Amino acid sequence: MEDRLMTGSYTPEDSAVEQSLRPHTLRDYVGQQAVKDSLSIYIQAALTRHDALDHMLLYGPPGLGKTTLACIVAAEMGQNIRVTSGPAIERPGDLASILSNLNAGDVLFIDEIHRLSRQVEEVLYPAMEDYAIDIMIGKGPTARSIRVDLPRFTLVGATTRAGQLSAPLRDRFGMLFRLEMYKPEELAAIISRSAGILGVQAEEEGILEIARRSRGTPRIANRMLKRVRDFAQVKAGGVITRQVADEALSLLEVDQLGLDKVDRSVLCCMMDKFGGGPVGLDTLAATTGEDAVTIEDVYEPYLMQLGFIMRTPRGRVCTPAAWAHMGRTMPSSASSDQMRMEI
Ligand SMILES: Nc1ncnc2c1ncn2[C@@H]1O[C@H](COP(=O)(O)OP(=O)(O)O)[C@@H](O)[C@H]1O
Ligand SMILES: [Mg+2]
Repeated sequence: MEDRLMTGSYTPEDSAVEQSLRPHTLRDYVGQQAVKDSLSIYIQAALTRHDALDHMLLYGPPGLGKTTLACIVAAEMGQNIRVTSGPAIERPGDLASILSNLNAGDVLFIDEIHRLSRQVEEVLYPAMEDYAIDIMIGKGPTARSIRVDLPRFTLVGATTRAGQLSAPLRDRFGMLFRLEMYKPEELAAIISRSAGILGVQAEEEGILEIARRSRGTPRIANRMLKRVRDFAQVKAGGVITRQVADEALSLLEVDQLGLDKVDRSVLCCMMDKFGGGPVGLDTLAATTGEDAVTIEDVYEPYLMQLGFIMRTPRGRVCTPAAWAHMGRTMPSSASSDQMRMEI
């Protein structure tokens, strides 16, 4: 369970609570100020023109609020949202049928859009650009393609890996928004709102303690809140104080900076087996027993945000801050390696 808590991956069991904690308006959506400022202008402009919003791509690590934002965009536009995902759309015909069932103004949300196959992607190009799809009628020499017009809709794509999107697809989005990790104060606001919804009693210091240890990620903040609530209920009369939060999170093996067992094993492995790096992602994955994609999407973003890991052309390197946090002495060979790299 701890692993799931940390990686921010999704389970049906959690999804009901996640739904209830999801903000429904831009006002309630905490943080991401630059994104919200732009979005509210574009939404207002589209509403005044009685037009659909331009297509938008949301990208960033899991749990930062991409799905939430897509739903908010539809709500603020006063439109329906149709939710699907890259892996769910197997054949071009599946997408064609989704597209031809859209109503004017609808928001089509495609999660993990980087996982669409090439053939499916090709259906999207004319749909996004000209609001039309080309359908093949018949087979063999008599086959011909007819163009079917679509209503004006808004595609919202979400991805953890914008780099994996093909250039033609990326170019067809009118807006690209990168979601950033949240500051502790922002996470505290989210936790405080969630505590209210869940009916949990929490002191400000307790909330801040959870916020500081949530890896900049709202999904993790909300999950930790639930686990700390359980702990408080059983061990501390139900109130989340700083000490209760600290004890509950220590029990989950989440350290002062929010690093969990896997983060620490990645760092230890780099330090103990590779002298702090540089080490390639695949080697790191093989040595820690974690999936390379998971390391790259889930663990690395936060370790890089903390300034603990750097990506270099020769591989990943631990910084002096990481050595200090892990209570290890940085070998002089590692620091000279890094000096060379910084030059
Ligand atoms: N900006 C935000 N303000 C408040 N809560 C948020 C925010 N972003 C995310 N959340 C919470 O975190 C959970 C995960 O967000 P989600 O949109 O599913 O992330 P993603 O789609 O990027 O993986 C949501 O259920 C919501 O409760
Ligand atoms: Mg999502």
